Amino acid sequence: VSETGCLSIVVLGASGDLAKKKTFPALFNLYRQGSVKAEDVSEFLQLMKYTSGSYDTEEGFRLLDKQISEHEEAKSSADGSCRRLFYLALPPSVYPVVCKMIKLCCMNKSDLGGWTRIVVEKPFGKDLESAEKLSSQIGELFGEHQIYRIDHYLGKEMVQNLLVLRFANRLFVPLWNRDNIDNVQIVFREDFGIEGRGGYFDEYGIIRDIVQNHLLQVLCLVAMEKPVSLDSEHIRDEKVKVLQSVEPIKDEEVVLGQYHGYRDDSKVPDHSNTPTFASIILRIHNERWEGVPFILKAGKALSSKKADIRVQFKDVPGDIFNCEKQGRNEFVMRLQPSEAMYMKLAVKQPGLEMSTVQSELDLSYKQRYHGVTIPDAYERLLLDTIHGDQQHFVRRDELKAAWDIFTPLLHRIDIGELKPISYQQGSRGPAEADELLLRAGYIRTHGY
Ligand code: BG6
Repeated sequence: VSETGCLSIVVLGASGDLAKKKTFPALFNLYRQGSVKAEDVSEFLQLMKYTSGSYDTEEGFRLLDKQISEHEEAKSSADGSCRRLFYLALPPSVYPVVCKMIKLCCMNKSDLGGWTRIVVEKPFGKDLESAEKLSSQIGELFGEHQIYRIDHYLGKEMVQNLLVLRFANRLFVPLWNRDNIDNVQIVFREDFGIEGRGGYFDEYGIIRDIVQNHLLQVLCLVAMEKPVSLDSEHIRDEKVKVLQSVEPIKDEEVVLGQYHGYRDDSKVPDHSNTPTFASIILRIHNERWEGVPFILKAGKALSSKKADIRVQFKDVPGDIFNCEKQGRNEFVMRLQPSEAMYMKLAVKQPGLEMSTVQSELDLSYKQRYHGVTIPDAYERLLLDTIHGDQQHFVRRDELKAAWDIFTPLLHRIDIGELKPISYQQGSRGPAEADELLLRAGYIRTHGY
């Protein structure tokens, strides 16, 4: 292992989808890059052991503990400390019982130091009440410093870039506020539907699946004040303040959609009211952002697969070039695919005439960082859990504040008071969402 002592990574739910698609590939890539050292592939595979057992009985966990202890005895180096990482690639309903079993049977017992940590995936609850209940159940067993709540958007290259861009560039510092920024969009689009995840998805819907976590985390990083330092508590303190400043969501600033054909999934009820698309305006009541709409938009089965952050600046006062016709300045960060950031600017149209045209200062990662592999979000986050860095993980109070924002809206959707509008698969979503965007003040420029 990369540090002294022995590291055991236990993936619970090893035969499930998440483990197969994300956890194991991330572990393997870390191994390949030497972050988790081993001589060759066969050695890596030999390091893996499979144990089966049920989640709610001591027997299986005692066996697991025995196996970990044997591994530790065999591998421990001189300092003897033992590190145990439990990755719960499981449905949240079993988190409490599994945590209880880990606490009862599988904690690190070495006198020479080390630790036990648990990693959990969203959804952390379905609303404020259930999330708080889950947090308390786990919180009774483990300290906050032992719990790593993954939101994989926090492991994405461009999301991690936000802090650097905002706080390491003099250029942005004076501009990043209500005096200069007109509106902000944070958009997630997928060009496929729920693809066999009907059971899970219909229970949660797009707001719980994407908006309340991934997009809201991005919003925090766009909107937060400069933290005292890069210490994980300092960063999360600032994120919580942003979340606590979000005003209650207004009905007229929400557009919900459901793609045509969604209910054909065998696990989706015929009268499902679950949104597969949502566009929601959040307003932050503080000195920096009062009056600036943050439009969070997410949808399945749309025309493209893309996630980006689009910051649109206000018009130039006293414009002498008639720039308004060309469009406003925009700063865009494309999170995926093909990471990029670009700035839309008015420039002189090359040639004899004095006319303006909108052009772009373009930093496309593929071209600029040719040959550099951008690590998958899960690789970074797994490594962070091993190193004990919680900067990119969601703290309990952050989670509570996030649920505070969306719970009233979600309850109204759950009881059918708000209904999604049907939209065609492969479209931009309901036309009403584009109207909402224009009402929010966004001025469309060519190409968007
Ligand atoms: C997951 C959601 O959290 O994020 C999925 O449950 C979604 O519905 C996925 O497809 C998107 O992740 P990414 O990294 O592909 O944008």
